Amino acid sequence: MIKTTIIIEGALDHKTDCLAILCPQEKKPGAILRELDESLEGIVGRSFADKRFEGKLNQTLLLNTRAAAGADYVLLAGVGKAGEVTAEKLRQAAGTAARLAEKSRFKKLSFAVADDKFVKPLQAGRKGGYYNLTLALAEGAYLGLYHFDHYKNADPDETPCRVGELVFLTPSRVRRAAAEKAIDRARKVAAAVTAARDLALHPSNTATPAFLAETARKMAAKTGIICKILGAGEMKKLGMGSLLGVAQGSDQPPKFIILEYFGGKKKQAPVVIVGKGVTFDTGGISLKPAAGMGDMKMDMCGGAVTLGALQAAAGLRLPVNVVGLVPAVENMPGGSAINPGDVLRGMSGKTIEVLNTDAEGRLILADALTYAARYKPRAVIDLATLTGACVVALGHHAAAVLGSDARLIEKLIQCGMAAGERVWELPLWEEYEKEVKSDIADLKNISAPTAGAGTITGAAFLKAFAGDQPWAHIDIAGTSWCREDRPYVPRGATGFGVRLLLNYLET
Ligand code: BES
Ligand code: MN
Ligand code: ZN
Repeated sequence: MIKTTIIIEGALDHKTDCLAILCPQEKKPGAILRELDESLEGIVGRSFADKRFEGKLNQTLLLNTRAAAGADYVLLAGVGKAGEVTAEKLRQAAGTAARLAEKSRFKKLSFAVADDKFVKPLQAGRKGGYYNLTLALAEGAYLGLYHFDHYKNADPDETPCRVGELVFLTPSRVRRAAAEKAIDRARKVAAAVTAARDLALHPSNTATPAFLAETARKMAAKTGIICKILGAGEMKKLGMGSLLGVAQGSDQPPKFIILEYFGGKKKQAPVVIVGKGVTFDTGGISLKPAAGMGDMKMDMCGGAVTLGALQAAAGLRLPVNVVGLVPAVENMPGGSAINPGDVLRGMSGKTIEVLNTDAEGRLILADALTYAARYKPRAVIDLATLTGACVVALGHHAAAVLGSDARLIEKLIQCGMAAGERVWELPLWEEYEKEVKSDIADLKNISAPTAGAGTITGAAFLKAFAGDQPWAHIDIAGTSWCREDRPYVPRGATGFGVRLLLNYLET
């Protein structure tokens, strides 16, 4: 973890490698920039005049101070119009600044704000503007500086440079206290997102169902979460024939991970989070094409995010009861794999005709949703990289949310907006449920190709197993992964969902 300190000091006196100043977009530079401008012979003013830097969101300008300030370099980072600043814009600006600083080979990076104008729009919220400001900046910086280098040998010609120290400058003692709390939270949140990203990026020959279970066990032991792992034998006893059906084509034994964090009142019904944990999805006998198949190592992102959300909830000692359930399997076309047309009986007793072994996520979630009902939950939220159709519908900028509880869905949409992890509702009308009725069993795991709406029919299948629990399903197939660098999400695994869930659990 990156060393982080909070210092009460004037920005221009502060000694550091690189001072990032968050600047609102305005016609003329504000007070602190004018002061800097004077020391730098008008270069800041000229930059504004030439529109080289105006404070637009994610705009940057790196200036050498030629020893006219405590910092060797000043990095101006735009946050957009002062009156319209949001936590998301601050996360982005901080992530952009942090990543640029690292690329420019600075080891110590300090953050200051050009003025407090944009604290005001952040005033809403439990802890007030300055807390929210620091939280957003720290989250953006930590998340933006994420790296995954477990498998790379050091290259003597290309020594990487990493930002190893962050400093947040605050103007007063009161604010220092707020900043301290914010940074503590940001560290825990970032650690949870990092854990989820790591799990997604580990290849399937490392991240097996057993590895997921072991990771969950270690995390639980550290955070005081209760962890139980069910093996195939116990699943069989419970009648989880749907989950076991998917697992049986692989040599990797399946694991059913149960995490319980009871931070709330004893009698309070828990929120149950269910995450799809397919450690590799070959498609099974309905084999996927070779191109891009490697991406299917991330088919356990729902599970990874579930572990991350519980880690963060417990780390922050949230006063809520939460349960995480992760059915973990590998979907392989082995000699004992299920064939298209096979019928499975799940824990609920319902029978499923498996017409496509590549629609395996819903098969494992079916039994996990049935298991969830044991907790008589206040809400059940499942997250799954369930359908390619979701990527067609929403691309990589929003996940789909569907479910049986309008208020739950509304809340998830709001929490996602606040987190910068957007979810968008698709309808789940009765008509769609007919598409997954089988001629010879209770359900079939795919609808006819003419039905279209693959994300919805996938959810319609799950609905049969969610039963009357207040339930929402989030399809994260498009958002778990991104191919281009974003301000605070380096390309690769995003960890999408951890911060959304955390916001939800907190409200
Ligand atoms: N894991 C995939 C969905 C997926 C596709 C996630 C692309 C991320 C990127 C899922 O198990 C799957 O194969 N779904 C099928 C369902 C179909 C057979 C009804 C799909 O989307 O093609
Ligand atoms: Mn599949
Ligand atoms: Zn899958």
